[in-house]
Amino acid sequence: MKIQIINGPNLNLLGKREPGIYGSEGFESFYKQLLAKYPDVELSYYQSNVEGEIINKLHEIGFDYDGIVLNAGAYTHTSVAIADAIAGIKTPVVEVHISNVYAREEFRHHSMMAKNCKGIITGFGLMSYELALKSFL
Ligand code: DQA
Repeated sequence: MKIQIINGPNLNLLGKREPGIYGSEGFESFYKQLLAKYPDVELSYYQSNVEGEIINKLHEIGFDYDGIVLNAGAYTHTSVAIADAIAGIKTPVVEVHISNVYAREEFRHHSMMAKNCKGIITGFGLMSYELALKSFL
């Protein structure tokens, strides 16, 4: 089972960025815990602040991986191009958010890509990623 986690813009700052909203744990330490907890899953992690690089990663892995866990950050709300990339690949994508986007500003209530995803998980902190991972097992 090959699963790719992709984090979009500003998620490299997890742990330092707005800890009241996103928590104080960095993604790398959480990812290490996931690797230890799911030793049978071939898990990989990629982060980019660049829209085109996220699209390139989706193209690269989107025909042979079993699942993609994607937190596209703010691109969730703006990117037709990432939404099109998700529609164009074979691997199912689960959209995740750390915060509950529906409890926040209205511009975060709309996702450009949700309709092309298998499902959405929002508001469970870093556990959102684990719940998405479990949806593929
Ligand atoms: C986010 C929510 C987005 O609205 C925001 O732009 C992010 C993070 C989340 O994980 O809660 O960067 O995707």
